[in-house]
Amino acid sequence: MEARGQWGSRSSFVLAAIGSAIGLGNIWRFPYICANNGGGAFLVAFLVALITAGIPILIMELSTGHKFQKAASGSLGSISKKYEWLGWAIVGIGFVITTYYAAVMSWSFKYLWDAFTLAWGENTKDFFFNDTLGISSGPFDFGGMKTPLIIGLVLTWVSIVACIWKGPETVGKVVYATVAIPWIILVVLVIRGVTLEGAHAGLNYYLTPDFSKLMNPKVWLAAYTQVFFSLSIGFSIMFAYGSYLPRKTHMVSDAYIVAISDSLTAIMGGFAVFGALGYLSGQTGTPVTELNTAGPGLAFVVYPTIINELPMLNKLFGVLFFFMLLTLGIDSAFSLVEGVTSAVKDKFGWSHRRTNLTVAVFGFFCGFLFISGAGLYWLDIIDYFMNFFGLAIACLIECYVIGWVYSTVKLKEHINSLPGMKIGGIWEIMIKLVAPIILVVLLGWEIIARINAPYENYPRLAEGLGALVMFVLIPLAGFMFAKAKSKNE
Ligand code: PFF
Repeated sequence: MEARGQWGSRSSFVLAAIGSAIGLGNIWRFPYICANNGGGAFLVAFLVALITAGIPILIMELSTGHKFQKAASGSLGSISKKYEWLGWAIVGIGFVITTYYAAVMSWSFKYLWDAFTLAWGENTKDFFFNDTLGISSGPFDFGGMKTPLIIGLVLTWVSIVACIWKGPETVGKVVYATVAIPWIILVVLVIRGVTLEGAHAGLNYYLTPDFSKLMNPKVWLAAYTQVFFSLSIGFSIMFAYGSYLPRKTHMVSDAYIVAISDSLTAIMGGFAVFGALGYLSGQTGTPVTELNTAGPGLAFVVYPTIINELPMLNKLFGVLFFFMLLTLGIDSAFSLVEGVTSAVKDKFGWSHRRTNLTVAVFGFFCGFLFISGAGLYWLDIIDYFMNFFGLAIACLIECYVIGWVYSTVKLKEHINSLPGMKIGGIWEIMIKLVAPIILVVLLGWEIIARINAPYENYPRLAEGLGALVMFVLIPLAGFMFAKAKSKNE
């Protein structure tokens, strides 16, 4: 068996955790989820979710991984063998998310290429849906796969495997580049976004909360799960990253650093996007709320339009934007994979390379679904089930198993025995009561909503398949992995 790797230094851990947290979720997912869920109202819910669940759960995951020296499945299994399958289910959710995350990265590779010539032309919507995706008529009309996306998917997986080839030490180095570069580009884009003519209309929508929207539980569930997705919690990765920490470590302050930089990046990115939306709204005479921002189209339809309409340096901005999207995505993508591979290695004692290659090949082929003609529909459906249900349930399970079965008191003792910032009773209350109660209520609400009407009017069968993956296949795989013989048996 290989020795457990450790971070080269404190900063390489913090950067890797920030690198995992800040990703497509901040620039691609946050803005459209925010725009579809009330703009300013969503922002309020997002901040509440961060305080009541995001930060407490991040501290819980890092410290549990640190305490048990294992990824999610191993950690939950160490608390009680009977919960190991739940840990594997969490790993499974991470794996499924990886497969479509890689598909979004493949679009980004293609757009980086296109940006050199502004190949998207004037009709960016048509370019995205037809030229790029070759979108079909519905989820069951699979159409063909576009060669550039296959190439993009290959490049994505090759980059992921290359980045994690040597384990945590390489991760520590790669992230210096993948965290620092996007930040510099982001600052430039924000300045450009908010100074565009008409930007104020978009910024008003972003910053003025319509409190009546906060009565809608869906807005809250969207906010909680966006926080989870963005902080990379409810997955296996923060357990794994915690497990690579040395015995004496400043865990609590580091968790704050990660959470604050991640949320600031999303909120900052929001300024660029909403500023630009205001500009676009002025140009086209369409109100901000009616611009085509629904679903995963935002970055790939609106940004190229904005880039076209910039007064100068269009190609440069285009290349910078998609390069930024890729550098942000890559460290998140490899940490998603790392969450899966560390769990497999812990259990089966496979070598680092064998595990990475197996997961990569498997993930690559699963990604074909999302780059097919029906890919966007499936991406939307699977993303919905994995986030709104998967992540919410994963965090709920963790709060129960770690907070109640293991006990927050014991974990708090462990955390407070470490140097630096300490945590108090409020953290325990969040983990044992506040977060779980809110999640149960929101989940209950969403389940009733789904029984009453299908998600986004997709055919019931397509929605049913999404539910099947979430509620049958993932738990089943969880059982199988938990039952499989481990290296110690
Ligand atoms: N936090 C990443 C993002 O916002 O893009 C997504 C992610 C990466 C989730 C890694 C989970 C994970 F393990």
